[in-house]
Amino acid sequence: MHGKFITIEGTEGVGKTTNIDFIQAWLLEQNIEFLATREPGGTPLAEQIRQLLLTPGDEKISDAAELLLMFAGRAQHLDQVIVPSLEAGKWVVCDRFTDATYAYQGAGRGMDSSLIEHLEHLVQGELRPDLTLILDIPVEIGLKRASDRSAPDRFEQEQVEFFERVRQGYLNTAGKDPQRYAVIDASQSLDGVQFDIKAAMETFLATTKVPV
Ligand code: TMP
Repeated sequence: MHGKFITIEGTEGVGKTTNIDFIQAWLLEQNIEFLATREPGGTPLAEQIRQLLLTPGDEKISDAAELLLMFAGRAQHLDQVIVPSLEAGKWVVCDRFTDATYAYQGAGRGMDSSLIEHLEHLVQGELRPDLTLILDIPVEIGLKRASDRSAPDRFEQEQVEFFERVRQGYLNTAGKDPQRYAVIDASQSLDGVQFDIKAAMETFLATTKVPV
C-alpha cells in the first residue's frame, strides 16, 4: 500500500469534526492527496449499518450483535473505499476505526479483547492505521459538549461510567504503542489542540519521507 492511513479517535464531544477539518486543510497545504471518511459508515451499506447502530430503539442490541455490526460495516468500508484508496496512493483520514471497537465494545461493554483481535484479523488481515490521533478530554466535559450539540444517539445515552472505561481503554492502548498513537489534550484551547495535532502530523510526515 502506498497511501498512509490516519485515524482520529476519542470519546464523545472531544471535537473530532473541527479537528478533522483542520487535518484536511493541513494535508491540502502539503499537497497530499487524501480521502476523508468515517466509521461506522463510509459506504452506502455501511452508512445503513451506522443508522442501525446509532438510532435509539426499543429492541436492545446485544453486545455481540453490536460488535459484529461494527465489523460488518468495516469489512465493506475496507473493501469498497479504504483499501482501494490506499492502493491508489491516497492517504485515508478516517473518523474512528478499530481502536473505537477496542475502546467501546472492549473496555466499555466488556467484550473479550481476544475476540475483537480475531475479528480484526479476519476483516483487516495485517492492515492497521499508520497513525492514530486520540483526542482526550475529561468525560463530563465531552458529554456536556455533545449534549449541547444534538439529541443523544444510542451510545450517547450511556452512563458516565461507560465513557470513563472507554477513555481509559483508549489511553491504555495508546500507552502500549507510542510510535503509532499520539494522545492530544483536547481540553486546551482550540489553538493549543491544533498546535499539538500539527506537531504530530509533521513528525509523522517526516518519518514517511525517504532519506536522500
Ligand atoms: P460518532 O461518529 O459521532 O463519533 O459516533 C459513532 C459512535 O459509534 C460513537 O459513540 C462510538 C461508536 N463506535 C463504537 O462503539 N465502535 C466502533 O468500532 C466505532 C467505529 C464507533
